[in-house]
Amino acid sequence: MRIDIISVLPELLESPFAHSIMKRAQDKGLLEVHVHQLREYTTYKHNQVDDYQFGGGAGMVMMIEPVVNAIEALQAKVQYDEVIFLTPDGETFNQKIANQLSLKGNLLFLCGHYKGIDQRIRDHFITREISIGDFVLSGGELAAAVVVDAIGRLIPGVLNDETSALLDSFQDNLLAPPVYTRPVEYRGWKVPDILLSGDHKKIDEWRHNQSVDRTRERRPDLL
Ligand code: ADE
Repeated sequence: MRIDIISVLPELLESPFAHSIMKRAQDKGLLEVHVHQLREYTTYKHNQVDDYQFGGGAGMVMMIEPVVNAIEALQAKVQYDEVIFLTPDGETFNQKIANQLSLKGNLLFLCGHYKGIDQRIRDHFITREISIGDFVLSGGELAAAVVVDAIGRLIPGVLNDETSALLDSFQDNLLAPPVYTRPVEYRGWKVPDILLSGDHKKIDEWRHNQSVDRTRERRPDLL
């Protein structure tokens, strides 16, 4: 999968994909991430990419021309399955959407800034609008990092058995069960006996029950 991200602050996206599983996905050739500076696509003086909004009101709006120049320049080279705009008024991101997007070919992300982007971009170029939650970030970059990370680790072949996504919280609408590692006892706090029993059928059953209890307690809306 190839992912392109258009942003006025590409510096914010230098590190999130350079480590751990995202790095491994790229090293394995399963994921390519390219970040593009929107200002390189403007023809306005002083690399301008935003302007006052028609009708008045506080806050600048990202202009249509630089954004369309950037999108079309990339579309001339790459075939995208979705052109995604990160915005607090988009559909709320979740594991189901992450799963869907992880099976796509190539994705183009546009990070918003300022008051928003000219609505005509949304009407004519954007195919999907995603929010990462009911709060407002300074820009779409951190949201893009979150979404790309969640998608990237689900691309077939990225995770190995050890890091398998199958037991993740939300993968089957249940929160993940508790996990333990050495030592067996610390300050008198013991690892549950069942996990040391070697009886894998019983262990699976225990984990499932823990997941259900945890979900009922913390996120009954998921059940
Ligand atoms: N840009 C600003 N806030 C955002 C959010 N919550 N989700 C996605 N993009 C955003």
